[in-house]
Amino acid sequence: MAQPVRIGLLGYGTVGQAFVTLLKQQTALPAEVEIALVTDLGRPREGPPIPLTTDAREVVANPRVDLVVDVMGGRYPAYQWVREAILNGKSVVTANKEVMAYHGSELLQLAFERGVHLRYEASVGGGIPLIEPLLSHFRWGPIDAVIGVLNGTTNFILSAMEKGEPYEQALAMAQAKGYAEADPSADVLGYDAVRKLTLIIRMVFHFEVSPDAIPCRGIDQVTVDDIVRVAHWGYRIKLIARAYRGGRAMVWPTLVPANHRLAFLEDNQNSLCLYLWSQEYWLEGPGAGGPATALSVLSDVYRVIVQRDLGPRETVLPVRELQPMAPEWILFPVDPDRVVVPTAFPEFGLWNGQYFRTEPTPIGQVEQWLAEREGFKAYPLL
Ligand code: NAP
Ligand code: HSE
Repeated sequence: MAQPVRIGLLGYGTVGQAFVTLLKQQTALPAEVEIALVTDLGRPREGPPIPLTTDAREVVANPRVDLVVDVMGGRYPAYQWVREAILNGKSVVTANKEVMAYHGSELLQLAFERGVHLRYEASVGGGIPLIEPLLSHFRWGPIDAVIGVLNGTTNFILSAMEKGEPYEQALAMAQAKGYAEADPSADVLGYDAVRKLTLIIRMVFHFEVSPDAIPCRGIDQVTVDDIVRVAHWGYRIKLIARAYRGGRAMVWPTLVPANHRLAFLEDNQNSLCLYLWSQEYWLEGPGAGGPATALSVLSDVYRVIVQRDLGPRETVLPVRELQPMAPEWILFPVDPDRVVVPTAFPEFGLWNGQYFRTEPTPIGQVEQWLAEREGFKAYPLL
């Protein structure tokens, strides 16, 4: 019988506690928890009692820790601790999309050189098995496009607003359910989805792009009025992340036709559609929440334990610049009673009495048009 793998956690919050709870329910997995890093030793915790420390080196440089599970969040100091763990010869399982989006290629290369695993199933799609299928199954097909909802908090908020909850209330509910990041601005401003899209681009299109280069808007400007009005026009608003093989990408609150599969996503659900040989492949499920995410973390721990002989399967990829995105747009006056003179509208739109529908138009052109006028809003179409 093999010695149990000793796990050190960076963080013992929502995901960390759900992970240890799940781990302790397993009898067939030879793994045990050694210690966890936290900021506040006195904070009440619902998870199983385990040794805690405020000294990261007791995790990443501890000879009694074989495998580090990073569930602390934030770019720094998580990046330093993950890097140090790898340099110390420890495999790492991380849920941290921010670290993986900004530093993933460096860390994966480092892990490769050190002969250890760096796995990140929980970093995209919460509890959905997504990274593994993208790395091992879909990497062999020429994927044309990926379109999806990659953030559970914002999908929960938009769903709740459709049911009449005010934005602030809906955000507070998402936080209470453990869906939101410690700083929820990463969720509501779209950065979390952008980081996840960066990882997906790397896996399916095999090039590197900076998260900061992806055009991005969050849901902070979406109002209940907008949601109600576009519903009359046959749309739901979803925070859609999309990327195309030719090198275009964006994350934006988008009008999704009400009969489209993505329009049916409720609460914390995430969904990713891969377009391959004119067919759709869907990966769907709970995109946030402690227990769901813990399942992804545990599946990575399992893979590290049983696949010790498998080397990392990622290589250094070329860096590419993105091409401009040019979706069609719906533009409308915020005041529904405002009489819009069609000739006042740009050449790229057709007025139907309630809104303008544009030809494919670059983001920058629409943004410039909006900046030069007051009282209009614009949403891209799926
Ligand atoms: P969380 O509840 O805020 O827990 C973070 C934990 O890390 C806490 O225990 C905190 O200590 C500790 N921590 C944070 N910064 C630290 C620092 N500088 N030094 C020492 N300890 C520190 O976060 P979470 O929701 O579990 O998320 C953890 C990670 O999983 C994040 O990368 C997140 O993006 C990712 N993730 C979360 C979900 C989700 O649904 N929640 C889903 C997928 C991925 P204290 O407890 O003492 O404050
Ligand atoms: N805050 C993230 C979300 C957690 O709401 O999607 C899952 O990555």
